[in-house]
Amino acid sequence: MKSKPFVFINAAMSADGKISTYRRSQLKISGYDDMKRVDGLRSGSDAIMVGIGTVLADNPGLTVKSVEKNVIRIVVDSMARTPVDAEVLSRKGGPTIIAVSKSAPSERVEALREKAEVITVGDERVSLSELLAELKNRGIERLMVEGGATLNWSLISEGLVDEIYVYIGNMIIGGKNAPTLVDGVGLKEPMKLELLSVERMDEGVLVKWRVL
Ligand SMILES: NC(=O)c1ccc[n+]([C@@H]2O[C@H](COP(=O)([O-])OP(=O)(O)OC[C@H]3O[C@@H](n4cnc5c(N)ncnc54)[C@H](OP(=O)(O)O)[C@@H]3O)[C@@H](O)[C@H]2O)c1
Repeated sequence: MKSKPFVFINAAMSADGKISTYRRSQLKISGYDDMKRVDGLRSGSDAIMVGIGTVLADNPGLTVKSVEKNVIRIVVDSMARTPVDAEVLSRKGGPTIIAVSKSAPSERVEALREKAEVITVGDERVSLSELLAELKNRGIERLMVEGGATLNWSLISEGLVDEIYVYIGNMIIGGKNAPTLVDGVGLKEPMKLELLSVERMDEGVLVKWRVL
């Protein structure tokens, strides 16, 4: 396997494993203590990564609020669909990298280049292994992934994730079309995890796993 940063996924899900409703809009699943914890995780990372689905659904800024620290923001976006006015491109946060594929329309890539660095990896879809190798080359040692379901699936199924931290909130969301922690087509055989810790937090539970 190519050299890569330490990669961990952090997510909040409902008691039934959903990370949003079937409407795919942003949803508050955790509480104050968990949000503080997430901010600490961001500030302790060299970069934060999300998929374009999350940018389009939630428009996250991916900034660190508690301390003055610039953390690189990365969007995995094969076709360069990130809107030029997306919060992830705002000056409030750290520098932004948009990872696109060779199939991304050049005019959209050029528009994004005005506000972000664009890395091209993969023919039709962003090659995550190549992207992680490139990030490691640039000195990114610790990469936090903040979803969503499809990006989580690709990273996990390609064996690129080291640890998974899941906040389980006190709610049921339901719906077969609501995104779960890991979507995609699913694994033929379950992937085994080692339980690292369990902690009661706000009205839910924080569970940490290591991928074996
Ligand atoms: N509760 C939480 O912790 C949490 C956190 C984040 C998001 N969410 C929720 O998750 C939902 C979004 O998840 P999502 O699954 O729709 O989108 P996503 O995982 O954020 O982004 C997926 C998109 O990334 C692009 N991509 C490019 N290369 C890829 C690759 N190699 N593998 C996988 N994806 C690649 C694909 O679009 P292109 O092919 O066009 O590039 C793909 O459709 C929203 O409802 C959001 O609210 C919840």
